[in-house]
Amino acid sequence: MKIGKKVLNQSRMHNDILRNMCGGKELTRDQLIQPLFFHEHESADVLIEGLGENRILHDNNIIGNIAKDMKNGCRNFILFFVPRLKTNNSFNTKFCENILKKIKIEFQNDIQVWVDLCICSFTKTGHCCLFKESKIDLENSLNVMSNFALSFANGGADGIAPSSMLFGVVKSIRQSLDKNNFNHVPIMSYSTKFASNFYGPFRAAADSTPAFGDRTGYQLDYNDYEKAIQSSITFSEEGADLMMVKPGLLSLDLIKPINEKTSKPVGAYQVSGEYSSLVYLAEKKLIDFDKGLLETWSSLKRGGAQYIISYGARYAKRLGI
Ligand code: PBG
Repeated sequence: MKIGKKVLNQSRMHNDILRNMCGGKELTRDQLIQPLFFHEHESADVLIEGLGENRILHDNNIIGNIAKDMKNGCRNFILFFVPRLKTNNSFNTKFCENILKKIKIEFQNDIQVWVDLCICSFTKTGHCCLFKESKIDLENSLNVMSNFALSFANGGADGIAPSSMLFGVVKSIRQSLDKNNFNHVPIMSYSTKFASNFYGPFRAAADSTPAFGDRTGYQLDYNDYEKAIQSSITFSEEGADLMMVKPGLLSLDLIKPINEKTSKPVGAYQVSGEYSSLVYLAEKKLIDFDKGLLETWSSLKRGGAQYIISYGARYAKRLGI
C-alpha cells in the first residue's frame, strides 16, 4: 500500500501512532483501534450485551479503563458519545468536550483518540440526520455535524470520524476545522458503509435504534458494488484522509479496489454483529475465541485493510501482535 504525500496530508501525520497506523503490511498493535462507549448519564459499571468485556464508560471509570487498556499495549481508540437527553435541535456536546479534555490531560499524546461523529445517539428519531417535512434536511444536518466536529476538536480529539453517510459531511467538516485552526486534525471517513443487519449490539450500546424506518435512505445497499466504490471516491474527493469499509469482513472484496481508486489508506470496521458472533460461538465452546479473532484480523489484513477497528483491539498483545 502506497503511503506518501498524496495519500495522507503530511501536516496531519502529527503523531507516531497515526504514522504506525498508516504504514506497513504487517499487522501491528497501533493498526488496531479500540471502540469505547461513553454515556453522559450512566454511573453503574455495565457490560454491553454481546460484546464480551466491552462496557459502558462514564465519568468515574473511563480513565481507569483506558489506563488498563494502555497497560495491555492498546493506545488507539475511537469514542462514541451518548447524551443524557435526546432532542431534535440544539444539541449539546459540552459533556463530550469535557471528557475529551479530561482524557487528553491525563494521557496526552500517549494515546490517539478518534471520535465517531454522528447524531443518531443524540436525536429523538435515532436517525443519523435531521428531517424537514419527512425528507432529509441535509443543510441543517451538515451544520450540526460541523459544530460537533469543532466541539470535539476543541476537546482535543486527535481525529474525527464522520459515520452518518450523508454526502457533503466530510467537505463541510473539513471546511469548519480549517477555518478554526484545526487543519492538523485528520478525518477518517466511514466512506463505504452499508445499511447492514450486523449493527444490533452497537445500537443497544449507543441507544441509537431508529424510532421508525431504517437507514437505507442514507446507508448503502450491500447488493450494489458500483455505488459502494463510488461512495468512497466521493468522500475522498471531499477531503477525507482515511477511508473505511463497514462491516469489515463483509466488505473484503472492496478494500483493494477502494485503495487503488483513492490512493488512500483503507481501514475495516469489524462491526458489533461480526464481533458478537465470535463472542457467542466461544461462549458455547464452539470455537477458540482468540484464534478465531486473530483469523478475522489476518483475513482483513490479507484483504488489504491498513487499519482495523475491533471490539477486541485491546487483546492484540495477548494474541501475539
Ligand atoms: C453511528 C454508527 C453505527 C456504527 C458505528 N457508528 C451504527 C449505525 O450506523 O447504525 C455501527 C458499529 C457497530 O455495529 O459496531 N452511525
